[in-house]
Amino acid sequence: MSKQAIGIFDSGVGGISIWREINALLPTEDTIYLADSRNAPYGPKGKERIIELAVKNTELLLQKNCKLVVVACNTATTNAIETLRSTYDIPFIGIEPAIKPAALNSKTKAVGILATKGTLSSALFFKTSHIFASDIKVIEQDGDGIVNLIESGRLFSEEMRALLKSYLEPMIKANIDYLVLGCTHYPFLMPLLIELLPKHVKIIDSGEAVARQTNAVLKHNDLLNTSAKKGVSEFFTNGNPEVMRSILNDPKLKVNYQDF
Ligand code: DGL
Repeated sequence: MSKQAIGIFDSGVGGISIWREINALLPTEDTIYLADSRNAPYGPKGKERIIELAVKNTELLLQKNCKLVVVACNTATTNAIETLRSTYDIPFIGIEPAIKPAALNSKTKAVGILATKGTLSSALFFKTSHIFASDIKVIEQDGDGIVNLIESGRLFSEEMRALLKSYLEPMIKANIDYLVLGCTHYPFLMPLLIELLPKHVKIIDSGEAVARQTNAVLKHNDLLNTSAKKGVSEFFTNGNPEVMRSILNDPKLKVNYQDF
C-alpha cells in the first residue's frame, strides 16, 4: 500500500486523455500531472532532445515524491522509456500506438495511423509494426501541426478541420477500416474525426489499456492506494493554464503554473 501520487507527464495537455482514464479506473489514487507545453511539440525533435525532456519531467515528478511515472506521450515513450527505466528505480508505464489490435481485426487489410514524426520514425514503432502489421497495408501519417493547434487553444478551429481532412483523405482512399490514434493529444479530436471519416471506420487509442496496465503494475509492486477516500489531482503547466482548463472543460480548475 502506498499513498504517494502517480506522476503523469506529456509534452502538453494531450496526456490529460490518459489522466482521465487513470482517474476513472483508480479514483482513490492521488495524481500529479505535468504539461511541458513550453517545449511542445516533441514530435519534430530528435531522440536526444526528447530523452533530455523526459528526464527533466521525471526528475520533477520524483521531487514531488511520485511512486510511479506514466509517460503519457507516445513520442516520449517510443524514444525515451528505455533510458528512463534503466536510470530510475521506480516503475514506468508507457504508451504506444495500438497497431496490434487494429492489424489483427482489420477486414480490409488496411489501417491508418496518425502519430508524430518522432513516434513514426522510432525503432520501437518500427519493431511493433513489423511484428504485427507486416501482412497489411499501413498508411502512416505524421500529424504535423495538430499538437500546435491544440496547445494554442484552436482545437475545434477551421484550420484543424482542413488539416485533418488532408491527413485522412489518403487513408479513406486506401479503404482503411481502422484509424489508430498514436498521440495522446488526438482523442480530443474525436468529434471532428467521426464527422470526417466514413461510418465503418473504427477509431482506437491506447488510453484505457494504459490505465489497466498502471493498475496491474501498482498491484504487482504493492503500491496501490487502498484507502476509501477519493484521490487528489494536481495539475502543473509551464504554458498557458487556460488551455488545460478548456481541455478539461472546467473554467474553475486549479492549474498551477511552474517554471520547469
Ligand atoms: N502527446 C504527445 C504524443 O503522444 C504529443 C507529441 C508532441 O508533442 O509532438 O506523442
